[in-house]
Amino acid sequence: MLLINFNIFLLGINIKINIKILFLNCDNIILNISLYVNVNKMESDKKIYYTYENIHSLVKNVAKKIKTSNFEPDVLIAIGGGGYIPGRILRNEYKKPLIGVSVNYYDENDKIQEKANVFQWIEKKHVKNKNILIIDEVDDTRKTLHFIVEKMRKYKPKEIAIAVLNNKKKEKEPLENVKYFCSEETEDKWIVYPWDYY
Ligand code: G4P
Ligand code: MG
Repeated sequence: MLLINFNIFLLGINIKINIKILFLNCDNIILNISLYVNVNKMESDKKIYYTYENIHSLVKNVAKKIKTSNFEPDVLIAIGGGGYIPGRILRNEYKKPLIGVSVNYYDENDKIQEKANVFQWIEKKHVKNKNILIIDEVDDTRKTLHFIVEKMRKYKPKEIAIAVLNNKKKEKEPLENVKYFCSEETEDKWIVYPWDYY
């Protein structure tokens, strides 16, 4: 089998061409040409739009940074809902358990609350003495991340790392004694992720 892949960038559009040639025997050659058109991230004054292709690139980028740091997670903890898909994609790089936790600060009328609602949590045995990697799509106010990190510390992990796709550029409280990886430092605009589309 012969595989030829190449990318052409044209006016902000990424055209990916894959040519697959299968040699069955001398008389039988299967030629499979596939063409992907991947529109790069789109940005307006107020919003940034991502496609699923963009999400894969963002995850690859953050995975590269984690690998370079030599941090080796024992467990991946995705914060729902936005961290679930990035968490699943990141698990392609690490054959480790992926566990979901779910926390928010809203009531049933979408009104912000002072105290977090914890809908789904993790067992201590998955955290104690482990290198944990907490994954979310966006670090916005950082309120959720602080809440989760402080709760995890009580379970005495070996080391805590955070991976996010977008760290919004704004003033926020630093996260102490945590390894922090973000794929992109992003303007403080509303990000429309592909799972937000309707
Ligand atoms: P943070 O502490 O993790 O920084 O986030 P924060 O609680 O400030 O954000 C509240 C909710 O708003 C979170 O959703 C977060 O994912 C979402 N959010 C913040 N900025 C953006 C953005 O630019 N685009 C999108 N699509 N969402 C944003 P959540 O309550 O965790 O719900 P879910 O959407 O992850 O399920
Ligand atoms: Mg979220």
